[in-house]
Amino acid sequence: MKLFLVGINGKMGKMISSVAESTDGIEIVGGIDVVKGGAYPVFEKAKDVNVDFDCIIDFSRPSTLDEVISLARAKKSPVVIATTGLTPEQVEKINDLATELPVFRSANMSLGVNVVESVLPALASALKGFDIELIEAHHNQKLDAPSGTAKQMLEAIEKGLDYKPEYVNGREGDCKRKPGDIGVHAIRGGSIVGEHTVIFAGEDEIIEIKHTALSRKIFAVGSIKAAGFLIGKTHGLYNMTDYLESK
Ligand SMILES: NC(=O)c1ccc[n+]([C@@H]2O[C@H](COP(=O)([O-])OP(=O)(O)OC[C@H]3O[C@@H](n4cnc5c(N)ncnc54)[C@H](O)[C@@H]3O)[C@@H](O)[C@H]2O)c1
Repeated sequence: MKLFLVGINGKMGKMISSVAESTDGIEIVGGIDVVKGGAYPVFEKAKDVNVDFDCIIDFSRPSTLDEVISLARAKKSPVVIATTGLTPEQVEKINDLATELPVFRSANMSLGVNVVESVLPALASALKGFDIELIEAHHNQKLDAPSGTAKQMLEAIEKGLDYKPEYVNGREGDCKRKPGDIGVHAIRGGSIVGEHTVIFAGEDEIIEIKHTALSRKIFAVGSIKAAGFLIGKTHGLYNMTDYLESK
């Protein structure tokens, strides 16, 4: 499987390259990045790309999305989009692309987070009257807040609720909690890879579901598996649930 990495010289690009180097049958053929150097050809724009590949994996910035889409269209390539912090308009562009090509999008490529997301609707539905809060923590270089994973988890929780929650991002001052609020809190510091805790707080009992990413390797491995799943599929929008259900 030949992979092309958008954001090849970033933290995730380097991690995928390192996983690929120690995995038989996976070859990195190049990537797009504004940072040059490294062991693979690095291109600035989609129009410059002169290598062939089976799938694109994008871990970069929302501002790179148009290049990702141009490259996928030009090469008629499946694409795995892992970049977070996309605007609703950008998500629409991805949905359009999925009417022509196989596209896999997930804000979290780890098995654990996706299993957590699969149980959240049932917990939210069963724990009627419980207050729900979400705390996420990431390294001090992360650009977007709340994290894409936090947003995915909140979408999963909403599926189990019979009301539309009001999201409260952090609290300060006169801000007593209202029924139906979901507090969302983002911690940023050091080299934290990623932590997400969902708290269901009831009368005299609390349930906490916590996922801790100890290494970026889980996202790299997940994205390579997503690429393998996507190659050969018909056009459409796929996510980790589709992948897990295919197992
Ligand atoms: N879905 C997941 O499982 C998952 C996991 C980890 C990170 N992420 C997301 O992936 C993205 C990248 O994360 P990272 O930690 O590797 O970040 P990073 O900042 O280390 O890497 C981003 C790379 O993109 C490059 N880049 C930025 N703008 C560019 C442009 N206009 N053209 C070309 N290249 C450009 C940068 O030079 C850098 O090398 C973020 O959005 C992050 O939230 C998703």
